[in-house]
Amino acid sequence: MIISHTVGATLFVFITKNIVNARKLEKEILRLDRLNMVGQMAANVAHEIRNPLTSVRGYLQRMQMKNNYCISKEHCDLMLDELDRTNLIITEYLLLAKEKVSHREVRCLNSIINTLYPLLYTNATAANSSIRLFLEDISTLYLDENEIRQLLLNLVNNGLDAMPSGGTILIRTYINQNKVVLSVSDQGTGIPPKLIEKLGTPFFTTKTEGTGLGLPICYRIAFRHNASIVAETGPQGTTFAVNFSLPTN
Ligand SMILES: Nc1ncnc2c1ncn2[C@@H]1O[C@H](COP(=O)(O)OP(=O)(O)OP(=O)(O)O)[C@@H](O)[C@H]1O
Ligand SMILES: [Mg+2]
Repeated sequence: MIISHTVGATLFVFITKNIVNARKLEKEILRLDRLNMVGQMAANVAHEIRNPLTSVRGYLQRMQMKNNYCISKEHCDLMLDELDRTNLIITEYLLLAKEKVSHREVRCLNSIINTLYPLLYTNATAANSSIRLFLEDISTLYLDENEIRQLLLNLVNNGLDAMPSGGTILIRTYINQNKVVLSVSDQGTGIPPKLIEKLGTPFFTTKTEGTGLGLPICYRIAFRHNASIVAETGPQGTTFAVNFSLPTN
């Protein structure tokens, strides 16, 4: 193809302008991406610290209602634990320019559940519901205790939100086909089929007060533990089962 000198020059200017515009656009997209990420991280932090803060508020409110400002050692320890957890989460997220590293150690899943039980019980009582534990003999796993607490708390809170008052949450641990399973079942009305594929999508929520980060965090924690999460739902309720592989020697 022959292009005259003037037409060629015009074409060159045109292409150069387009390249400059494309670069500008690229930079703008990158800037917006970063802004978006900052926004997502801020919402993530807010979500994570709201759970422990709500618990501490619950304890303080109970004291205020009873007009009894004496505090038992057990409740004091629980509140301090929750505040420490808040602090830890903030510190971790402030450091989070890159993916957080899990601190996994050989732990007993049942012990973590038992330690968290008073908190779960308090949340369930506040929602006029109850919690039952059915913990079988299971082998130890490589777990990040803080992350497993977050996972369990998020699943139980979702179960409590899904149930009318008077319902029961069942937390089970058992072995199934070479996997250690942690399951959380509720007696809610289930998840509508059209919403199932959206589970775990960041910011997907059907709650006015929800941030829609609870399940994405659970899926991320499961992923870090090489575990999978399977949800089974129906009109009788929903079960989220977290399947951990047994450690190989
Ligand atoms: N056990 C459950 N029963 C019924 N619906 C559920 C259950 N768990 C999750 N969902 C649905 O999935 C959505 C997303 O859950 P997710 O935990 O990610 O966010 P959220 O609970 O809405 O808000 P957040 O956890 O940030 O407070 C919920 O809004 C709800 O519609
Ligand atoms: Mg939730």
